[in-house]
Amino acid sequence: MITRNEKETIELGKKLGSLLEKGTTVALKGDLAGGKTTFTKGIGEALNIRQVINSPTFTILKIYHGDLPLYHIDAYRLEGNDYDLGISEYEEEGIMVVEWPEYYAQQLPEDYIEVLFTYIDDDSRQIDFICHGEKYKKIIEEMEMTC
Ligand SMILES: Nc1ncnc2c1ncn2[C@@H]1O[C@H](COP(=O)(O)OP(=O)(O)O)[C@@H](O)[C@H]1O
Ligand SMILES: [Mg+2]
Repeated sequence: MITRNEKETIELGKKLGSLLEKGTTVALKGDLAGGKTTFTKGIGEALNIRQVINSPTFTILKIYHGDLPLYHIDAYRLEGNDYDLGISEYEEEGIMVVEWPEYYAQQLPEDYIEVLFTYIDDDSRQIDFICHGEKYKKIIEEMEMTC
C-alpha cells in the first residue's frame, strides 16, 4: 500500500487501530522517517486517545490512555539491551506498539502484526502488513492485504 502524505498514513493507522483487540502487539519496522510514529498517531485516534502522540525516542516507553491503554515503545536506544520496561504484566490489557523491534530484546509474542515502512520519496511511503502467526490473519485481510 502506498500513502501519499502524512494524513493518509494516519488514516491507515486509524483503520488498523479500529480492528485491534486488547493484548495485540504491533511491530513497526523500517526506514527512519518512514512514518512509524505518524502511523501510531492513527492507532491512537482509533483508541480515542486525546494526548498528542509523538516520537518516544528519548523516553523509550510512553503510555497513553484511551478506550484501551497504548504502550508506545521506541526500542532504538535500547540497542538490544535486555532492559525491563516493567509493563509485561499489563500488556494483555492494551495495545503494544514497538518501533525498532529489532532492538527490542524482550520476546515479542508468537502472534503479532508487523508493519513495514519504506521511504519512497519526500511525500510517499510504502506500507506493508505482515502477519506473524495465524491469529491476526483476518485483520490483515481486512486491511486488504494477504499474508
Ligand atoms: N506518506 C507519508 N507518511 C508518513 N509520513 C510522511 C509521509 N510523507 C511525509 N511524511 C513525513 O515524514 C516524517 C515521518 O516521521 P515519523 O512518523 O516520525 O517517522 P518514523 O517514526 O518512522 O521515524 C514526518 O515528518 C512526516 O510529516
Ligand atoms: Mg518514530
